[in-house]
Amino acid sequence: MNGKLLIALPKGRVYDAALALLGRASIIIDATAQFSRALIFEDTAERYQFVALKPVDIPVYVESGVIDAGIVGSDILREADSDVNEPLDLQIGKCRLAVAGPDAKTVSYHQNIRVATKYPRTASKFFQGRNAHVHIVRLEGSVEIAPLLGLADVIVDLVETGRTLRENGMSIIEEVAGVSSKLIVNRTAMKMKAAAVNRLITDLDKVVYANS
Ligand code: PRP
Repeated sequence: MNGKLLIALPKGRVYDAALALLGRASIIIDATAQFSRALIFEDTAERYQFVALKPVDIPVYVESGVIDAGIVGSDILREADSDVNEPLDLQIGKCRLAVAGPDAKTVSYHQNIRVATKYPRTASKFFQGRNAHVHIVRLEGSVEIAPLLGLADVIVDLVETGRTLRENGMSIIEEVAGVSSKLIVNRTAMKMKAAAVNRLITDLDKVVYANS
């Protein structure tokens, strides 16, 4: 394109935190850009180009190289298993991926339990590690409803405040992994656009660890 790095931002719950982090690094995306319908937009200094994508699509675009870099949750990265560089943990979007189930039920992993999740690969691996035979039910959202309606025995899903579990009579059985958002970079861009990539990493690194 025009030599500027193209960076994917995750639509949804981490979007505002990602914009705030970029802002602290003096990469300002003003309201005009944010709320425009233009799919590709720039920061006010016109140093970078951005595209807002569904988080699950970000590793695919960055691995292919059509997008140079992206901000995406480690939950999504773990599930996608993409071949990308992960130079920086951005310390935003922190939550947990956990096995959870109805409060009243004692679940043994060694029964043929049914696990509802948006993370089939991660969940399969986790239960394999426990030598448990599970049946994965893949869902795309509102996963907590599956045990309530009898579609599954437990879920593997994100827990942030714990409110969704609490309000649906469920609790965490076991944590699968801690989650936070990462900066990911295409492997070729890391070499071919090294100056721009390194500047981005340095600028973000400074603000991520500014208070620690
Ligand atoms: C996520 C996650 C849980 C909820 C956890 O869902 O899948 O449902 O947030 O947050 P809490 O612990 O603070 O209640 P999201 O809002 O992303 O929507 P989804 O269920 O449609 O994926």
